[in-house]
Amino acid sequence: MSNHPWWKTSVVYQIPVPSFADSTGDGLGDLRGILGKLDYVNDGTPASLGANVIWLTPINPSPLRDFGYDVSDYLAIDPRFGTMTDFDELLGACHERGIRLMTDVVLNHTSDEHPWFRESRSSRDNPKRDWYIWRDGRAPGKPPNRWVSVAEGSPWQYDEATDQYYYHAFLEFQPDLNWRNPDVRRAMFDVMRFWLDKGVDGFRLDLINFLYEDELLRENPRRIGRRPYFWQHHIYDRSRPESLEAARDLRALCDSYPERALMGEVCTDERDDAVAYLGDGSDSLHLSFYLDFARVRWSAHRFRESVGWLEEHIPANGWPCYYLNNHDLSRSFTRLGGGSRAEARAKVAAAMLLTLRGTPIIYAGEEIGMPMSNVPRRVMRDPIGTKYWPLSRGRDGARTPMQWTAEKNAGFSSGRPWLPTDRSHTVCNVEDQELDPESLLNWYRTLIRLRERIPALHLGTYRPLTDVPSGLYAYLREWEAEQVAVILNFTAREVTMRQPAPGSGPETYLPLLSTHPLAGVAPLRLGELRIRPHEALLLERQPG
Ligand code: NOJ
Repeated sequence: MSNHPWWKTSVVYQIPVPSFADSTGDGLGDLRGILGKLDYVNDGTPASLGANVIWLTPINPSPLRDFGYDVSDYLAIDPRFGTMTDFDELLGACHERGIRLMTDVVLNHTSDEHPWFRESRSSRDNPKRDWYIWRDGRAPGKPPNRWVSVAEGSPWQYDEATDQYYYHAFLEFQPDLNWRNPDVRRAMFDVMRFWLDKGVDGFRLDLINFLYEDELLRENPRRIGRRPYFWQHHIYDRSRPESLEAARDLRALCDSYPERALMGEVCTDERDDAVAYLGDGSDSLHLSFYLDFARVRWSAHRFRESVGWLEEHIPANGWPCYYLNNHDLSRSFTRLGGGSRAEARAKVAAAMLLTLRGTPIIYAGEEIGMPMSNVPRRVMRDPIGTKYWPLSRGRDGARTPMQWTAEKNAGFSSGRPWLPTDRSHTVCNVEDQELDPESLLNWYRTLIRLRERIPALHLGTYRPLTDVPSGLYAYLREWEAEQVAVILNFTAREVTMRQPAPGSGPETYLPLLSTHPLAGVAPLRLGELRIRPHEALLLERQPG
């Protein structure tokens, strides 16, 4: 794999730091907890997951009102997560194992407790005033315009002391930095340099398409949508051309260091936006999240269409990036219906995630099928949940402690976890699944090893097979003379595939891997296949 950029050939494992492993017993995950679990992520043998990039959610000092996405000091480690020495040790240990480490960087906004904002709000003529976006109301008691924040409600917060409004694309305690101010740009580039100099391998860029807003604050056109945020076409408050330019500048900074990469959270409901942040495939972000997989209904046709759209619209040198889960979404195991049906579907989904062209991201807990937890209102921590309950139950359900064992607190902490452990840990945990060869965890491990071993799977082109029966999604991954066919049965019934083999000659395919027993499945022609219910089948074309 060595001649190809690591961010293309790797499997990314997202670690929600507060919820992964607690080494101190204070109920909150921390860096030493992660250090203790590195062998689980990748110890170089098939007995570990095999991911080779770790993405950490924010670890900077923060009031932790939004899972760390409210930073109050960009150049330090929150003491609840550890020390800078712990971080250096973790980074070194990752590199020793050949694991790359990406950290989350929140460039769009700070916490309202950041000293910059404290200064900025102290008076209209404070030198830091212009580091944030302050405006007069359009009339007494009326915010500067009618934009709606991603977190709903007006993105303008009135500040009595100076009789102006400040802008926050997300929540009111997350004021947006004014990226038009050159000092702000410089400060944030310095933040990135600080961590790059330390040796981090790259960043996950939070809300990267929100850095700039329209300078004239023009109103967004209206549209019909399912909730107020979607009642506007967000053409003036997100994905502005200046944010694209900033992404290119960030790339240039990154390229001044060897082998670093940027992975952008392009927060949008428009597929085009996500693709735009890849530039021409070499001058902007290396990877940009593709939002579709968490929204598409469970159907072979819909996933084929979604991948087809991306493959068609991505720049020629661009590289896709897929995920089924993250800390903001409901967990896929629950979206797939829960129970044994979800388990069968989750194996098909994993096979898709790990065999498509592109970099896959696995969210911790996905590999054991952790469900979306039902976190009661009284212990909810997510501000979206507490603010909008019961309309929204927030994101805590996807952030409950990682389930390591069936014991109390799921082996996550010896103290009281910051969010309750989901009840399912008694039957859904790493320890049990490690012992079960048929478990979802072992399926992920096997797929990751196979992907690593076969260049067609981590580098190859993508060619969908057309005219396959409905219910099946099938494609070829091809690299030099190597060809792998992936056939995914999204249904609970057996489906027969009668398609002629895609090549011209009498091609023979050897089964490589299946969710079902392979005994008796002899070398076969691609045209004569019976795909069992919820089967994911990988075949390799035989030479000659
Ligand atoms: C996106 C992050 O993924 C989410 O968790 C956070 O609340 C918002 N950005 C605001 O930073």
